[in-house]
Order: sequence, then C-alpha cells, then structure tokens
Amino acid sequence: MTQNVIEVNGVSKAFGGVQANKDISLTVPDGKITGLIGPNGSGKTTLFNSIVGYHPIDEGSIRFEGREISKLRVQQIARLGLLRTFQQTRIFKNMNCVENMLIAVPHRKMTMLDMFDRANPEEMERAEMLLEFVGLYSKRKLTAGSLSFGQQKLLEFAMALMNEPKVLLLDEPTAGINPTLINGLIDRLKKANSEFGITLLIIEHNMRVIMNMADTIYCLAHGKMLASGTPEDIQNDQRVIDAYLGAH
Ligand SMILES: Nc1ncnc2c1ncn2[C@@H]1O[C@H](COP(=O)(O)OP(=O)(O)O)[C@@H](O)[C@H]1O
Ligand SMILES: [Mg+2]
Repeated sequence: MTQNVIEVNGVSKAFGGVQANKDISLTVPDGKITGLIGPNGSGKTTLFNSIVGYHPIDEGSIRFEGREISKLRVQQIARLGLLRTFQQTRIFKNMNCVENMLIAVPHRKMTMLDMFDRANPEEMERAEMLLEFVGLYSKRKLTAGSLSFGQQKLLEFAMALMNEPKVLLLDEPTAGINPTLINGLIDRLKKANSEFGITLLIIEHNMRVIMNMADTIYCLAHGKMLASGTPEDIQNDQRVIDAYLGAH
C-alpha cells in the first residue's frame, strides 16, 4: 500500500483580511507525482509556503512522513528532506553553475574561497553529474546570469537535487520557459521521480504538462479546495472547467 509522505489537514492561512487558504486538505503519496492547479491568487503558493515552514499557519495540521511539521522552521523541514523551488528563480547570477550547485548544500554557508579550499570531491562529482542530468554540463563554468531563463530554471532544479530531497515542491517549473525546452524539462522531472525516487508536488499552469505528468491533481479556487482526482476526472469536472479550465 502506498504511504502518504505529506498529509495536509484543515489548513487555513490569512494575510490580514485576505483568506489565502481555507480548510485545505490534501495528501501526497510516496513516490508519485501530484499536481496542484487553480487560477491566479487561488492560494497555491501560500500552501507551498505553509508546507515548507516559510510562515506559520493559522489552523490545521501538516504531517511529513507521519510527523507533525507545522511548527517547524524552513531549515528544520529542509533537513528532513522536504524542499521547494520558487516561482522566480533564486540563483546567484554572478557565480558559475558549479558554484551555485555547491552553495545549494545548506552546510556550505561560507565564503567562496573556503568553498574551493574545501571543495569536497564527492560534492563536486555530484554537482557535475546533476548538471549533466539537466543538460547544463557544457555551461558549468558560465555565470548563472548568462544563462537563458529556461536554463536558470534547470539550474535551480539541479540545485534542489543537490540536497537529495525525498520530496520536492515545484512552483510553476515551466513558467517562462520556451515551449521547445518544456518537453526536456518534463522528461527530467519524470526521471527525477522514476530514477531518483523523488516524490513531486507540482504547481503548474500548463495543462498539457500537468495532465501528462501527475497521478493525482488537486484544484484550488478562492483559497478553497475545489476538486481532486485523476487528470481525467479533473478535465471532466464541471466545477474545474467553470473556475479554471474554461479560461485556458
Ligand atoms: N505575503 C503575503 N501578504 C499578503 N497577501 C498575500 C501574501 N502572499 C499571498 N497573499 C495573497 O494571498 C492570495 C493567494 O496568493 P498565492 O498563494 O500567491 O496564489 P497563487 O499562487 O495561487 O497565485 C492572494 O490574494 C495574494 O494576494
Ligand atoms: Mg503562485
């Protein structure tokens, strides 16, 4: 039987008068790809932020591998193996790709000089292997700022993999990426799931992408859970069509 690595139960979060999430429940099964969709402002990113401990929640429970994590801070949660990427990339544009990869590992919060003095061969090898995995090996010595936006997203993805997460939350991984590069990215996400065994929870606007990848999809609207089911269920759900898909 598949276990749920993440169990969100009755989570609510308000910002002043804005109820960004209201009584949200969802589960993320181990080893699967789960999708999260919904119109802009429906509360998707807020839910990610709540799960990874970026802000406290007002109500509800969030469990990771059965353990309550809703009172833990970001770093504590990251150490358990639950990581996220951002809607906007968070890379160091003046550093090259390899340097970005090395600095992505939390214990490496030191100066650049220290970093290369102590350049650990296993970490370096892993950095290069993952850059190869995302197709950036030939660009490993270029500054991250000189990469295209799509390549920066791939770098950010590789940086997250550097931490060997059990679960990775991806916030609109294909947004702003050239359509011709999207298939390559989908392939890598699927491989990270099937070959590295990383469970994925993905916020995605591109319906072709998410319908093609996810085992289960949840749809938010106005901060509430509107529907959930297989991609086929979701595509045929009249509430989802009215609130979201109709506009796509
Ligand atoms: N830090 C914040 N402060 C105030 N309001 C916020 C904050 N973050 C999100 N919101 C509000 O919460 C609602 C949900 O936003 P968000 O979770 O970013 O939606 P989505 O990712 O689905 O587009 C929006 O109305 C947004 O303006
Ligand atoms: Mg968002």
